Amino acid sequence: MMDFYTGKVVLITGAATGMGETSAIEFAKAGAKVVVADCNETEGQATVDEITKSGGAAKFVKVDVSNAESVKAMVAKTLDWYGRLDCAFNNAGIMEENAKLADIDEAMFDRIIAVNMKGVFLCMKYELPVMVAQGKGAIVNTSSVCAARILPNCAAYTASKFGVVALTRSAAVEYGGSGVRINAILPGAIATPMAKAAIAADPARLERIKHTRPLGKVAEPIVIAKAAMWLCSDDAEHITGHALPVDGGYVGAA
Ligand SMILES: NC(=O)c1ccc[n+]([C@@H]2O[C@H](COP(=O)([O-])OP(=O)(O)OC[C@H]3O[C@@H](n4cnc5c(N)ncnc54)[C@H](O)[C@@H]3O)[C@@H](O)[C@H]2O)c1
Repeated sequence: MMDFYTGKVVLITGAATGMGETSAIEFAKAGAKVVVADCNETEGQATVDEITKSGGAAKFVKVDVSNAESVKAMVAKTLDWYGRLDCAFNNAGIMEENAKLADIDEAMFDRIIAVNMKGVFLCMKYELPVMVAQGKGAIVNTSSVCAARILPNCAAYTASKFGVVALTRSAAVEYGGSGVRINAILPGAIATPMAKAAIAADPARLERIKHTRPLGKVAEPIVIAKAAMWLCSDDAEHITGHALPVDGGYVGAA
């Protein structure tokens, strides 16, 4: 798989921190030219600096994935810089609620759906025509284990992540004949700023995580980077429309 990424152009959203940042670094180590896309300019530029100081190729583009013009400009920049788009990891997301459904603020519901679900829609809307024209491409969207096993107190987030799987499967069916594969990853508990904030808001969560995962731990972001790299590579050439839990066995144990 490693030779596969030499010279490939890989766009990653949510690449300023967490699993997107680790993925950007790992794709670059494997020889990819990485577009680090995020709304957080300082941390996004820091990801690029980390890659370039080790001799890798990366550029930062500021994007709000919930805004069509911004996403369109992100894809256009990628083409301006590198001339093609081989792989896209649509990973940006937010998890802000910790409340039962009737207590979720309407504005927060709209925002979570806009970033997590509409964001993936908009990314694919502008990435797919480029990949179809190339006759080849691979997309991985970040969903969550909550799209396979319901977690309490995050109904809006859960709805958004079910939506990501629905969009992934729809796109896979519609674009299967064009050489573009589209899959989703369902991360379990991964030690990123997002998960750390969720555990800080509800400390009992850490014990629940340990007891409900056959592998018994919160994993490091590298496990997601490896899964994304495999799904985007030709090693996964016959896989499309799949929603892959990377979760220490949480979904399988249900
Ligand atoms: N960490 C976990 O345990 C876990 C579990 C399941 C799913 N996920 C999903 O994994 C993805 C990555 O999350 P993470 O855990 O690395 O968290 P994170 O908070 O470290 O990373 C999320 C990134 O998305 C960016 N972002 C947020 N809103 C954006 C917007 N509107 N436009 C562009 N960028 C935006 C943030 O700036 C940040 O860099 C998310 O989609 C999240 O829902 C995480």
